[in-house]
Order: sequence, then C-alpha cells, then structure tokens
Amino acid sequence: MSERLATKRVLVTGGGSGICLAIVRRFIDEGATVSVCDLNPESRTQVESLGARFDVVDVADVAAVEGWVQREITALGGVDVVVAGAGYELVAKAGDLTVEQWDHQMAVMLRGPFVTFRAALPAMVEAGRGGSLIALSSQVAFAGITGYTAYAPAKRGLIGLVRVLAIDYAQYGIRVNAVCPGPTDTPMIQRQLDAAPDPAALLRTWQDATLLGRLGQPDEIASGAVYLASDESGYVTGSALMIDGGYTVR
Ligand SMILES: NC(=O)c1ccc[n+]([C@@H]2O[C@H](COP(=O)([O-])OP(=O)(O)OC[C@H]3O[C@@H](n4cnc5c(N)ncnc54)[C@H](O)[C@@H]3O)[C@@H](O)[C@H]2O)c1
Repeated sequence: MSERLATKRVLVTGGGSGICLAIVRRFIDEGATVSVCDLNPESRTQVESLGARFDVVDVADVAAVEGWVQREITALGGVDVVVAGAGYELVAKAGDLTVEQWDHQMAVMLRGPFVTFRAALPAMVEAGRGGSLIALSSQVAFAGITGYTAYAPAKRGLIGLVRVLAIDYAQYGIRVNAVCPGPTDTPMIQRQLDAAPDPAALLRTWQDATLLGRLGQPDEIASGAVYLASDESGYVTGSALMIDGGYTVR
C-alpha cells in the first residue's frame, strides 16, 4: 500500500455507491481521511466499514450541504480535497421531460458541486495549504447521447465551472479539475440496462461506442481521482481528465 494521499482530508459527495465508493476505498488505501455524504442511508454500513465518516445529505438541499461541509471540516480539522460526485440518471427526450425534472437534475448535478465547493473554499483559502477540487463530469459533456437532455448540460456545465474556479483560486494553490468517465460498470448503468427493452443491445451500444470495446470499472475512474487529489498532479488545473475508453475520440 502506498500513501499518496497521507495527510489529505477529503470530502466526497455521493460516496455511497459506484464510482465514488471506489474513490473512497482508494483514497483510504492511500492514507487519506475521508468524510462521505450520500442521499441513500443504506450505504452507511459499507462506507463506515471502509473507515470513512458518513452522513445522509441531499446535495440539492443547500443548507444541508453547507451544514455537512462545515461539520466535517471541524471534525477533520480542515479540508484538502473535495470530490463532488453525487448524481443520478434521468433519460427522457425534451418533450417528455418536465421543467421540475430538469430543475432537480441541475440542482443535484450542477448546483450541488457548486454549493459543495463554495462551502469548502473559505476554509481552504484561509488554511493556505492549497488543495484540490474534483468534479465528476462525464464523457457526455463532450458527446451527445439520446435522452440525456438535462444530464448532458449539467455535466457540460461542470466543465465551465471547473475552468472558472481554476482561474479564480489558482492564486491560493487550489487546483480544480473534472474527471470524465465513459460508460462505467456501476449501479447507475445497471439500472439503465434493467430498464431497457433489450439490455444486451444497449450494453453492446455502450461497449461499441468506446475504442476499447468495454465498460470502464469504478476503480479505473478512481485512479484518476487519486492522481488529481495527490501532489503528483501539482501542475494540473482547469482540466477535464477523460477516462472513457476512447469514447469521445470519434
Ligand atoms: N456510471 C457511468 O457510466 C458514469 C459515466 C460518467 C459519469 N458518471 C457520473 O459519476 C458519478 C457517480 O455515478 P455512478 O455511476 O457511480 O452512480 P451510482 O448511482 O452508483 O452512485 C451515485 C451516488 O450518488 C448518490 N446521490 C444521488 N443523488 C444524490 C443527492 N441528491 N444527494 C446526495 N447523494 C446523491 C446516490 O445515492 C449514489 O450513492 C455521477 O455524478 C455520474 O453522473 C457516471
């Protein structure tokens, strides 16, 4: 076991499942101290068994996110890394999508990371130790997919948010980056396969859309997050790290 994240105090939203659960596991393996929030209370046991702290928080609830961030900064004695990963799938063509559904997707997947980062930044600036903010964007920020009517704009919006925060907080040594996974083998993908009329055909479509011909594994995405959280990426800011099997190449 290496200790690439020893001394790092980390907050992770949506860390109860899939990619961000893999991030929590890898970060702890690398020596980090980690606090997780998730909407799903059932993820508590698994997260705590990894050695992370856990709270139930809905990232669409601004006051709840702010309260959680402040509590955890106090509990951890500061914060060095924030991973904003909470999200959910919403697949509907524009004519079938309500404005309320659009607003909620934005509140979770675009405003959520903004509110989370915003709550952590004053303490990071004041501590003067620099730090790393990481947003879970998607290959969908760069490649349209049918029905991702609100999802894709939210993920594209994160690319803009990351770039602006990178500019505004570089002077404090705070780096801000996005990770852009391709189709990754998580419960989110499994739910979409389960709901499809022909799951095998949908899986083939996703696999064939990548150059490598397969889904990614959560741990492969977590590797990118470890890199961006660690000092090894000290010269990386404002970037979108594609971990998508080559999905966006063609
Ligand atoms: N799986 C993929 O193919 C893929 C591809 C690109 C990007 N992503 C992004 O990666 C992130 C993780 O996705 P995943 O595939 O691991 O999904 P997942 O469903 O396995 O995990 C998402 C987690 O977010 C939590 N969550 C959802 N809404 C929340 C809310 N309002 N407040 C707090 N927590 C909430 C869920 O409870 C769940 O634990 C998401 O942002 C997703 O959009 C996933």
